[in-house]
Amino acid sequence: MYSEADLNSIDITAAPPLEEPQRQYYFIAKCREWLNEKKKKNGTLPKACVVNMGCQMNARDSEKLEGILKAIGYELTSQEDADFLLMNTCTVRENANLKVYGRLGQLKRQKQTHPDMMIALCGCMMQESLVVEKICESYRHVDILFGTHNVFKLAELLYKRIQPNTGMVIDIWEGTDEIVEDLPSERKYSFKCGVNIMFGCNNFCSYCIVPYVRGRERSRQPEDILAEIRALAASGVTEVMLLGQNVNSYGKTLPEPISFAELLRRVEKIEKIRRIRFMTSHPKDLSNELIEVMASSEKICRHLHLPMQSGSSKVLKDMNRRYTKEDYLALVERIRSAIPDISLTTDIIVGFPTETEEDFEETMDVVRRVRFDSAFTFLYSRRTGTPAASMQPAADESQVKERFDRLLCEVQKIARDTCSRYEGQVMEVLVEGPDEQAPGALTGRLSNNLLVHFPGSADLIGTYRMVRLSEAKGFYYMGELA
Ligand code: SAH
Ligand code: SF4
Ligand code: F3S
Repeated sequence: MYSEADLNSIDITAAPPLEEPQRQYYFIAKCREWLNEKKKKNGTLPKACVVNMGCQMNARDSEKLEGILKAIGYELTSQEDADFLLMNTCTVRENANLKVYGRLGQLKRQKQTHPDMMIALCGCMMQESLVVEKICESYRHVDILFGTHNVFKLAELLYKRIQPNTGMVIDIWEGTDEIVEDLPSERKYSFKCGVNIMFGCNNFCSYCIVPYVRGRERSRQPEDILAEIRALAASGVTEVMLLGQNVNSYGKTLPEPISFAELLRRVEKIEKIRRIRFMTSHPKDLSNELIEVMASSEKICRHLHLPMQSGSSKVLKDMNRRYTKEDYLALVERIRSAIPDISLTTDIIVGFPTETEEDFEETMDVVRRVRFDSAFTFLYSRRTGTPAASMQPAADESQVKERFDRLLCEVQKIARDTCSRYEGQVMEVLVEGPDEQAPGALTGRLSNNLLVHFPGSADLIGTYRMVRLSEAKGFYYMGELA
């Protein structure tokens, strides 16, 4: 990790180094000099805001981007009228893209009254060439545009942009084999942190754009992951969330292959880590070894997010998910018999092009049989370039919307029941912060990922406490310190 002294000792009059991450530290130092001049001239502290619009993977990238901006000298803020605004975009569904265009329209006016403001865009949406074309044509007020493979280059791109007579800076990579380690990162919480274990996805589910915008699957070396977690533990982190689009295939393509379950065993040995979570598990790759490791672990949380997408074997085949309804149910059975107190959550898509009413009923059937603790339900969104985009829809929009409402109703009814099963018990929470709704109260998270709100003082934040779950409120609990 860098220190102020390290940054000050960089010779910024020399040519930039070619190797990473030294090259980026060089550009951070260059940008710092520029920003210091600005500070002196304006007499104010320039502010930067990173808006995260996507999943946990994007959120982790945002922390890295914030780390770089802070090292450059920006004060971080959540106010979007900052001097440097960076939107880290998502494109998994069309409405994510529409939100970005809407926001860019508003920013055009904002920039007219604040011409010094810099606007940058990055993330998954920028990996689509049509999007980049549209921004170049219609949103000329954007300053910097980059993608998912080169987030580590932010300082270099900013430096390029501030050179005289430079317009919009665009740097999009098609893909990469490179994993740049050891750049600064700004953590949202002092006690918990996401850790990338792999990047990209090779599964090509037929509806999904992620493999196209995140590139091929690449696993980090286990030693690098463990070293990062040890450093996090030494700085006070006790909960880690291991991140990847399909963590169950972690390590398979490394020169010395290692299984995800084995990685978990090694993480478990890191003393100060008390809780381990991971996202996301693809059902087709979930091994018995993983179930065994979870069942015997003291630290791996009692929660598994296991996206099913559909309950119909025909639709699952068309989705290229590579499991059937029966496989999914059998897997749930195996998990539950080994880990009875596990909380299961899922993702479901309604209205996939080949979904008929009978197929949808199969989804409802699985939902009723499995009884998920919670389910994220999505209306199918057509993504240009994916195989599903050229399939003919079997149902019209109003039928799909009606199915969606039926599913949501069922899912919520079941979740209310299953979540309340711990009412009256005393369980351990990690206290995550103040309860936003009630002054003087705190919010803690159970191992099974449910939240509990209870009275308590702020000095408990970041600690583990036993809490009585006095009243189930549907998807969370009201409680008291035990
Ligand atoms: N890698 C994860 C999912 C990442 S995307 C996995 O496979 O489980 C998160 C969720 O968005 C998916 O699980 C899916 O339910 C949903 N999703 C992805 N593409 C979608 C699309 N085109 N339309 C609607 N929902 C979609
Ligand atoms: Fe998308 Fe499927 Fe990869 Fe998940 S596993 S990111 S749904 S292609
Ligand atoms: Fe969205 Fe990219 Fe995540 S498309 S869901 S932010 S990987």
